[in-house]
Amino acid sequence: MGFKILKHIPVMMEEVMNFLRCEPGRTYVDATLGGGGHASEILRRTAPDGVLIGMEWDEDALLVASNRLKPFGERVKIFHENFISLPILLKNESVDGILLDLGLSSIQIEKEARGFSFKGEGPLDMRMDQRTNLTAADLVNHLSLKELEFILFQFGEGRWARRIANAIVHERERDPIETTQRLKKIVHAAIPRRFHSRRIDPATQTFQAFRIRVNDELENLRKILETGWTLLKKGGRMCILSFHSLEDRLVKETFRKLEKEGKMHILTKKPLTPSEEERRRNPRSRSAKLRCAERV
Ligand SMILES: C[S@@+](CC[C@H](N)C(=O)[O-])C[C@H]1O[C@@H](n2cnc3c(N)ncnc32)[C@H](O)[C@@H]1O
Repeated sequence: MGFKILKHIPVMMEEVMNFLRCEPGRTYVDATLGGGGHASEILRRTAPDGVLIGMEWDEDALLVASNRLKPFGERVKIFHENFISLPILLKNESVDGILLDLGLSSIQIEKEARGFSFKGEGPLDMRMDQRTNLTAADLVNHLSLKELEFILFQFGEGRWARRIANAIVHERERDPIETTQRLKKIVHAAIPRRFHSRRIDPATQTFQAFRIRVNDELENLRKILETGWTLLKKGGRMCILSFHSLEDRLVKETFRKLEKEGKMHILTKKPLTPSEEERRRNPRSRSAKLRCAERV
């Protein structure tokens, strides 16, 4: 059997680097290290003495990133942490830039045992931080009908939330729902055939909804948006790559509020998106939106 090397292709690399204005001697935070792609480029551009503080809560990704960044030695400090603890880590130090590349890395999606993808068969896990306890299976099998509907509606932006929630409750009475394929089949059967899109799998939004809830993704983003700008030096920049409209809306609204309050200046009136060439080369970049703002 072949050995599959899990590798994540960094999204909008040139655009992110241009906004961060990496230069020697500067200090940057990559709050979502993933495979370490953006981080290694930041380190390359800030040589010989720039510093990178990296955060990652996923053990698998952390291992990949740590190995990749080893050649940069003392210039890298890596923390196995949720990025909401960045203010505590930095204490009173301020930095020149913060990067958040939200969403999943290929390291997570492609490993079936993590349960993120409905393409293969895996347990309904979906935890990014393996030190936490709550899995997608816990939600699917134990939430009330109302709670399920709320999550599917709120985080899946789902028109079919009620039907899917009903189908889940009905199915779990027979047997607990434990695998990605079983959930996928339930969702497919719950959505009328004529509404199945050929472009996007009908289960996409349901999986997104449970993943967002398992990992408290929007709450974490809200917290780092609230505190992140205070950790920047004057002129320091925050760059955020988001992958669905719930995240992007939160970034857009917070940046606007901070600009109104005279704290940040928005550098991207409209979000930047990947070029056609990048989308072709890396289909996972398709839904990316990049927004950046500078501390005033
Ligand atoms: C899209 S990947 C980043 C890829 C990276 N920029 C690269 O070039 O390889 C996003 C990563 O952020 C991590 N992540 C998401 N939310 C996090 C959080 N609250 N704290 C720490 N890491 C987080 C995920 O585990 C995932 O590995």
